[in-house]
Amino acid sequence: MIYLDNAATSFPKPPEVIQAVVNQLEQIGGNAGRSAHQGGLASSRLIYETRCCISELIHCPDPLQIAFTLNATEALNLAIHGVLNPGDHVITTSMEHNSVLRPLKTLEASGISHTIVWGDETGDVKADDIKNAIRPNTRMIIATHCSNVTGTLLPIEEMGKMAKEHHLLFLVDASQSCGSIPLSVEALQADFLAAPGHKALLGPQGTGFLYIGKDLKIKTLKQGGTGSRSEDLLQPEVAPDRYESGTQNIHGLAGLKAGVDHLLKTGVTEIQRHEKEQVNRLMEGLSVIKGITLYGSPKKKERGSVVSFRPGNLDVNQFNYTLDSLHGISARSGLHCAPLAHQTIGTFPEGTLRFSPGWHTTADEIEAALTAVSQVMKQFS
Ligand SMILES: Cc1ncc(COP(=O)(O)O)c(C=O)c1O
Repeated sequence: MIYLDNAATSFPKPPEVIQAVVNQLEQIGGNAGRSAHQGGLASSRLIYETRCCISELIHCPDPLQIAFTLNATEALNLAIHGVLNPGDHVITTSMEHNSVLRPLKTLEASGISHTIVWGDETGDVKADDIKNAIRPNTRMIIATHCSNVTGTLLPIEEMGKMAKEHHLLFLVDASQSCGSIPLSVEALQADFLAAPGHKALLGPQGTGFLYIGKDLKIKTLKQGGTGSRSEDLLQPEVAPDRYESGTQNIHGLAGLKAGVDHLLKTGVTEIQRHEKEQVNRLMEGLSVIKGITLYGSPKKKERGSVVSFRPGNLDVNQFNYTLDSLHGISARSGLHCAPLAHQTIGTFPEGTLRFSPGWHTTADEIEAALTAVSQVMKQFS
């Protein structure tokens, strides 16, 4: 199998990740933040250490500002539902995933309005267009760092600066960048940053986190046992307990810690360099196959590890099925849960075929994928 679907979830995971999950289940046991026996304490320590290594990765000053979630969707929902109140206005972009667009659409019924700033045909969004959308009741700007459809990088540094100048909250969706592009929440002036643990952070599914800016206290998505202040019937105020009710996904977080440790050891800059090389190889190869249309930023511009294309007028789902069944290539076709991004670049409603190389993708695999695309094009043309 040639796995080119790392934008959905990374595969394979480093062996240390699998080992850490098994070790937690086999050797440690215990429930974090609950029992004071050895397994419980070891689990609590492990969860704290996971917060610490994520903090190091994203330059977060205090590990207690990291709240664990099931995935990026839950992290985005926590920030969006946690901050917004009736009468508020939000600015976001047409390049967002449904995990931003659907909560915002749902909140319209509660009197929370939003403006969608449209990108150009390459998926690029201008920071000035965001600025022009600011209203007196604007509370928050939400933007993805890297589009999961085109790989386009949005100008989040400029947006963060502008958000601060206008006293607005800034939520970054780092689902396609955290772990493969160096990030600093301090440099970005982000109030919130949401990320999955199971994509470029190389952890198992069922992991994710929300970075919450210092002194920001938001509403909770759920309430319940936290193992702290159990005498109080109200949800504790203290973070991250406030946001993490119920038993944690401890073996998942053990795997996530091993994934992030792997990244810290390798260096995110090195991962970025490797993925960029594979992305460039892909774009160059695809651009010379007759009938292929590539989407996203032009070749020389920085982009994340996502390449979207269309095989002429052929059906992307059938093309994808053939790549998988005859050539063993795992890719993704369709709308990638980002319908407005496809409207932006003119590929709605059919969508695109998406190749997303990861830390493990080799040059030989990219060459094999290019040969396969070329053969399938000939087969159906
Ligand atoms: C840009 C973006 N945001 C959010 C998500 C949601 O991530 P998760 O599946 O971890 O909830 C994805 C997933 O593909 C994504 O690409």
